[in-house]
Order: sequence, then structure tokens, then C-alpha cells
Amino acid sequence: MLLPSSVFRLAENYGFSGADKQVPDLKVLFSREQIARRVAQLGEKITRDFAGEQVVLIGVLKGAAIFLSDLARSIQLDATFDFISVSSYGNEKQNSGEVKLLKDVDQSMEGKNIILVEDILDTGLTLSYLRRVLLAKRPKTLHIAALLDKVPRRTEAIQADYVGFKIPDEFVVGYGMDYAEKYRNLPDICVVS
Ligand code: IMP
Ligand code: MG
Repeated sequence: MLLPSSVFRLAENYGFSGADKQVPDLKVLFSREQIARRVAQLGEKITRDFAGEQVVLIGVLKGAAIFLSDLARSIQLDATFDFISVSSYGNEKQNSGEVKLLKDVDQSMEGKNIILVEDILDTGLTLSYLRRVLLAKRPKTLHIAALLDKVPRRTEAIQADYVGFKIPDEFVVGYGMDYAEKYRNLPDICVVS
């Protein structure tokens, strides 16, 4: 089923209870089909760029978990993955500006081709911090794959090497991304209004 990107869907359509007074209106920004096509393209590009090499995907918990699981399966290389976790917005829509490491990777990254996999590149604070943390582990290469890039929000000098979609300054949920820990399981990426 292909949803036109202008379709409005109430959270109830995704199984969220109408009894919850906080249920917002959701508008589909990228349908599951659009996401699948774009993630497959990113996987093909990574496969070409790293031909003959091993890669380690490092997903930033929790938002990038679903993106990583689809991306990993579209990469035809000797690849593995790991996860890292940082403190985030809490239950706010605004970033507090402070980043702390909550969970480090489990494996040695020395000499590895790392691809840091993130849901959204927003101000860039999180990925700038994680880039420093990971470069200190002396990888062979470090690249960044971000499903979404909120270009107008950037305050840090950082770019992703692989970007799914550029989006305006809107708050999105679904496909791993949350608002106060909700809506991560929506198969489409939706704007909260
Ligand atoms: P940054 O440090 O400002 O680049 O923020 C990046 C993190 O903020 C992302 O990994 C997301 O977890 C979160 N974030 C930014 N924008 C959104 C959004 O629209 N929806 C959900 N999470 C977001
Ligand atoms: Mg995140």
C-alpha cells in the first residue's frame, strides 16, 4: 500500500489509544515503501564504497535501531554491528545541549571501518560528540550514515556521508524515532503536529 506523503493519519490508526489525551495528529512524511527504497540505495552505495573491506555499523540507541537493522541487511559485505548509547533530550522536543555516554561499544574499534548509524542529524551535537569518542579508539576510517538530516537546525560543523532524506525543521516520529518514548514502532516516518 503506497501512502501519498500528504496523508494525515491519526495515531489511533497505528494502534495508539484515543483515551490518551496526548495523542497528536500525525502526517506521513515518508511511507514505509519510500523508506525501504531509500535504505536499499544507501546499502548499495555503502557496498560499492567499501568493496573488499570489512565494516562495523555502530547504531546510536534507540532511535537508529530500526534503520540499522534494515541498512545492515542491504549491505553485501563482511559486516557486523554494535550499539552505543548517549543521553538524549529526555522527554523533551528540545535538546538540552549536553551529551553523555551511557553505553560504549562492546568490541575493539582499532583498525576498523566504522559507520556510525544515526536516526537524525539535527544540531549535530550528538554526532560531534560520538565522532570524538570513536576517533579516540583509532579506527581505520569513520563515516556517518544518518537516515534524516535536519539541515536548517545545524549548529556544529558536521555532515553525514550517507543521508537518507533531508527534512525541514519539523519534529518526526516512527521508524525508530520517538516523542517521549512513543511512536517508535510506526512503520512510516510521520510529522507530529
Ligand atoms: P542533535 O544532537 O541535535 O543532532 O540531535 C540528534 C538526536 O536528537 C537524534 O539522534 C534524535 O534522537 C533526536 N531528535 C532530533 N530531532 C528529532 C525528531 O524530530 N524526532 C525525534 N528525535 C529527534
Ligand atoms: Mg538519537
